[in-house]
Amino acid sequence: MTLDVVILAAGKGTRMFSATPKVMHRLAGQPLLGHVMSAARALRPQHVVVVYGYGGEQVRETFRGDDLIFVQQEPQLGTGHAVQQALPKLTAQRTLVLYGDVPLIAEATLSQAVKVEEGLVLITASVQEPAGYGRIVRDGTGAVVQIVEERDATSAQKAIAEINTGIIVAPTEKLTSWLSKIRDDNAQREYYLTDIVALAVADGTPIHTTQPADQFEILGVNSKRQLAELERIYQRQQAARLLERGVTLADPARIDVRGELHCGQDVTIDIDCVFEGEVHLGSGVSVGAHCVLKDARIEAGASILPFCHIEGAQVGAHARVGPYARLRPGTVLSEHAHVGNFVETKNATLGKGSKANHLSYLGDATIGRDVNIGAGTITCNYDGANKHQTIIGDGAFIGSDSQLVAPVSVGPGATIGAGSTVTRDAPPDELTVSRAKQVSIKGWKRPAKKPKGPA
Ligand code: UD1
Ligand code: CA
Repeated sequence: MTLDVVILAAGKGTRMFSATPKVMHRLAGQPLLGHVMSAARALRPQHVVVVYGYGGEQVRETFRGDDLIFVQQEPQLGTGHAVQQALPKLTAQRTLVLYGDVPLIAEATLSQAVKVEEGLVLITASVQEPAGYGRIVRDGTGAVVQIVEERDATSAQKAIAEINTGIIVAPTEKLTSWLSKIRDDNAQREYYLTDIVALAVADGTPIHTTQPADQFEILGVNSKRQLAELERIYQRQQAARLLERGVTLADPARIDVRGELHCGQDVTIDIDCVFEGEVHLGSGVSVGAHCVLKDARIEAGASILPFCHIEGAQVGAHARVGPYARLRPGTVLSEHAHVGNFVETKNATLGKGSKANHLSYLGDATIGRDVNIGAGTITCNYDGANKHQTIIGDGAFIGSDSQLVAPVSVGPGATIGAGSTVTRDAPPDELTVSRAKQVSIKGWKRPAKKPKGPA
């Protein structure tokens, strides 16, 4: 059966106290709406219709895709009214309604609901504290007869523990007809989507209920406090998933995965690391405390020591990085390369076994194998207008505190004397030095302080 998805995202989110539309606030680095969209798209629907209200521009600019349709709801007269706005765009036999501020809904829970190929499907949950939710009212036989909103409920109905998550799957044709009949004669003077349940009962449409695997899936975000709670739930899940696959985490409560983290065998991650975008850690990789890795690939056996920042970089097998290293986009370290403390690299390749262990900037540089980059070496890659390349051949030795003024090359086996400013190509296998000759001046005296006389 064909499927369309409608995501309700028109709510203002007043309690977020923010200029950003609620569904654009981020959970694990991604807007809330993005999480819901991923779950929706996993079902391969014909269309995903996003009903937006406040801050629509930002929502429309962030999400793209041929399957995406945006519909504005203005004014916002309730969840039923919101779905009504989407109706003209629906072409599939059935429609799934999701909420842009309920980000942890799992694909498995949705597939299970969509699998019921008949009638109206409600995802419900039995909870300890049902207050605030619509309650599922059943008759003596257990059949659903209506959903009653908290504010319209009698005290007996308020005692019902089974609540409406809000997520439904409905035959599109019937949904259209039910929505044409709902009215706003309730406590909130809104058009309730939930009123379609009683209409379905009245016309004999079978009603089914399914439950989420985990209760946190149905939690919504209305405040920064709830957003923070959901973030922690999400991160605990990520940590549990990593542990289940054999990753060693120093503390599962102190890791944040804001994207996809792929790990080989025997990976160890110390406390307070953040992984963003797509990160691959090969077998035997260890990541020290307080590292941030974004869109990076770390090959087998490499170790990342504490306090490193790595973005858009590749680290070869058995390489060693840090502590306190910054690898910027375009960095490629070959196997057994070492990059140590306070070294910054950008668009730089280090060949096998090459080392830059202390206090360097290596930008727009191609460095061969077994090169030693002395402490304080700087590639001067920028002339104020353009960037230039530095090329260093295999086995070269760059003395400490040298500046390589690009474009420049250092031949294989060349040695650069410490403290040199290299502005022309250095030939292979020779010593190149460019600094004033050392002299000692006999009888030289340090300037002495003048004695303080009367003013
Ligand atoms: C709704 C359900 C309730 C359920 C609860 C689950 C109705 C009438 N009630 O209540 O049974 O237990 O969700 O959280 O459906 N929205 C729009 N346009 C509108 C109104 C709402 O897009 O005009 C969106 C909101 O942005 C939000 C969602 O719909 O994402 C739910 O709206 P909200 O006002 O929070 O509904 P509840 O009163 O919580
Ligand atoms: Ca709500």
